[in-house]
Amino acid sequence: MKPIQVGLLGIGVVGSGTFNVLLRNQEEIKRRAGRGIQITMVADLNVARAQELVGPDVTVVNDARAVIANPDIDIVIELIGGYGVAKTLVLEAIAAGKHVVTANKALLAVHGTEIFAAASAKGVMVAFEAAVAGGIPIIKALREGLTANSIQWIAGIINGTTNFILSEMRDKGLDFAVALKQAQTLGYAEADPTFDIEGVDAAHKATIMSAIAFGIPVQFDKAYVEGITKLGAADIKYAEQLGYRIKLLGITKRTPMGIELRVHPCLIPAKRLIANVEGAMNAVVVQGDAVGTTLYYGKGAGSEPTASAVIADLVDITRLHTADAAQRVPHLAFQPNAMSNLPVLPMGEVVTSYYLRLRVADETGVLAKVTGILADAGISIDAVLQREADEIKTETAAGLPQVPQTDVIILTHDCVEAKMNAAIGQMQALPTVLEPITRIRKEELA
Ligand code: HSE
Repeated sequence: MKPIQVGLLGIGVVGSGTFNVLLRNQEEIKRRAGRGIQITMVADLNVARAQELVGPDVTVVNDARAVIANPDIDIVIELIGGYGVAKTLVLEAIAAGKHVVTANKALLAVHGTEIFAAASAKGVMVAFEAAVAGGIPIIKALREGLTANSIQWIAGIINGTTNFILSEMRDKGLDFAVALKQAQTLGYAEADPTFDIEGVDAAHKATIMSAIAFGIPVQFDKAYVEGITKLGAADIKYAEQLGYRIKLLGITKRTPMGIELRVHPCLIPAKRLIANVEGAMNAVVVQGDAVGTTLYYGKGAGSEPTASAVIADLVDITRLHTADAAQRVPHLAFQPNAMSNLPVLPMGEVVTSYYLRLRVADETGVLAKVTGILADAGISIDAVLQREADEIKTETAAGLPQVPQTDVIILTHDCVEAKMNAAIGQMQALPTVLEPITRIRKEELA
């Protein structure tokens, strides 16, 4: 049988990895897929560079629409990224009856509902294993391997750049800005790393996992997103002293009231396997009612790791494209007419535990006032630590003696976020609380 023909839109790091791995492993891939898979056409703005990468046998054009319009192309791989032209081209490819493979988490997290509906109406597949956690087959695991389960929660380190930065801050005691510079120098972080460090990239991925885990529509606009830019080296050190590590987690959880969907820095017990995921690696923990806890670990980015996921999708499509569309695995794991309307909860309704750090005047009764506010709010304290902060100056800017100061660190038991917000407001208003209170959420992941 003649190989299935693939058109590639954008041949950057992942595109060239995909081309190379397909070529290198073509015999084994063919034995698995039942048919050869060939990239026969590439669209890229830099035609000369692209042609050099793929050789003379592949047609290279600078117009993506020429690929979509080619009747010989069965599958279009979209590796352009972003919500703009990529969205238009994906919808055009679907309208032209092409199956689509994409690594574009931003596109799916924001416009997934529209894209999947268009694909279902046209009877084509949109596959996106590479959109979440790069080479880790987490979409396959959630959608197929764990299909027996009622999934309870997912917690993932799904952004390698921020995990690298946090590892450097912990290992070397670096401040955020210095660790970010290192990440950029080593090529982990983009020149504009905003989506990574502000948690947006992780929230795109968490949104997609949440939809697949719970059978809800993709709803990036409902995700709570907080990045790592305000984390201080002191908090990482104190967390360590309390037996925790700080990680940027993407969390989604089923609760009786609705679905939690949130990305923020999080204390997790140092003894958990996921707490020991260092550098640019990714890991996702999934809790299912039947299977219990499962952990998926690997490279979340990079040329060939991401290509591994893209090609897995190509093989799936090659095996399934002649099957009745109704027999295929649904895009979001649940049949489109059986989606749930469970709401995504606002952050104020999320229940979790907390790490608080307060820089206070070291005076009699300060701790009693702080703990009194928590007690009045019905927030139970788990642990308290008092430490002399390293960087406290002995003089004010005006050269006057500084009041003696100390850091008070409090771990709480679970409480609803709105209650904690109110308590933080009251504590912040105490004249003896000298700086903005640091609040980091805590998850036991038990
Ligand atoms: N920028 C992402 C990361 C990789 O740092 O993990 C692609 O999603």
